[in-house]
Amino acid sequence: MAELAPLGIAATAVPGGATFAGTWEQCYGANLWSRVASRILWRIAEFDYRNEHDLYAAVRAIDWPRYFRVERTLRVNVTAQKSPLKSLEFATLRIKDAVCDRFRDTLGKRPSIDRTNPDVRVHAFLESAHATLYLDTSGEPLFKRGWRAGAADAPLRENLAAGLIMLTGWQPEEPLLDPMCGGGTLLVEAGAMARGRAPGAKRPFAFEKLAAFDAGTWDEVKREAQAAERAPQLYGSDTDPKALNAARRNLAEAGVERWVKLERVDVLERPAPAASGVLVMNPPYGERMGSADELARFYPQLGDALKQRFAGWRCYIFTADLRLPKLIRLQPSRRIPLWNGALECRLYEFEIVAGSHRRPK
Ligand SMILES: C[S@@+](CC[C@H](N)C(=O)[O-])C[C@H]1O[C@@H](n2cnc3c(N)ncnc32)[C@H](O)[C@@H]1O
Repeated sequence: MAELAPLGIAATAVPGGATFAGTWEQCYGANLWSRVASRILWRIAEFDYRNEHDLYAAVRAIDWPRYFRVERTLRVNVTAQKSPLKSLEFATLRIKDAVCDRFRDTLGKRPSIDRTNPDVRVHAFLESAHATLYLDTSGEPLFKRGWRAGAADAPLRENLAAGLIMLTGWQPEEPLLDPMCGGGTLLVEAGAMARGRAPGAKRPFAFEKLAAFDAGTWDEVKREAQAAERAPQLYGSDTDPKALNAARRNLAEAGVERWVKLERVDVLERPAPAASGVLVMNPPYGERMGSADELARFYPQLGDALKQRFAGWRCYIFTADLRLPKLIRLQPSRRIPLWNGALECRLYEFEIVAGSHRRPK
């Protein structure tokens, strides 16, 4: 929410997100500048319902041609919490029919459906007796920034990576190292933040397809002066040459490669690139990336490596492996609970001070 304040948006937290009222200019700005949101939805209707007939009638009563042209393709998404309806698929169908029937009533034509690449997405959120309808102003989720050229294993989502960097409190003046950088998501996001690059500068948005779209305002939002650009010192390493290659391509595509030094080196042998800084990493987790036993052997060694080489650094480890603090034998100064999709995770903070914070074996 703090990231929306410079746009003059006062957002309030709600379960799973944040809500705000504002102008189109602010909506365009939030889509362009939010580093942590997945999508920005425009609430257009709310009503009570008991069954599919109520849903159909309420949706058909909405003046849809006011919101988008009939030539636009459409997709309807339904999510529900404690809804009495038996089939969400049927509810989706009825909402889609109601939108199309309203167009046919008014214009004698209906929009086509496109499930994979629609121009307009209608989201319905169904609770036990209440429904809320939204038009999606983002389109493709906002974590799709348009810079991911190189593929590496188990990449973090871009908005999760940006959120992790924000949670570390990293300031662009401080050196930042990801010693298990994979495809370089954390480095790209840190670089883009320091350079004042809008995360959405390279992608289109669904608001461009809505009837209310004002191209002049959008041009102004894009032209607006950016934050002062800083030259960050970013460092990344990994043992896998393929991952480093992907990281190199991603950093180049995001336009931040000049500020990043990439090396092929094992985290257990990696020297610190500066006397102090922020280390942030997301070690392999789960069957795909290494067995539980291998990780149980690796973590104590990682703890030793941090202790020996990273005194003076704030180190952050993001993992779904809740055994980590015990196995790494370092005392975390913070544990921040987070979700990576459906996976419960933690961001652990370890302040490495020479000769302290060591747990007995
Ligand atoms: C989960 S991935 C990191 C993904 C990355 N955060 C991203 O978003 O693209 C873990 C990475 O650790 C690397 N790795 C595994 N063992 C390593 C070691 N001993 N030293 C350095 N890197 C290692 C793997 O090659 C892999 O790229």
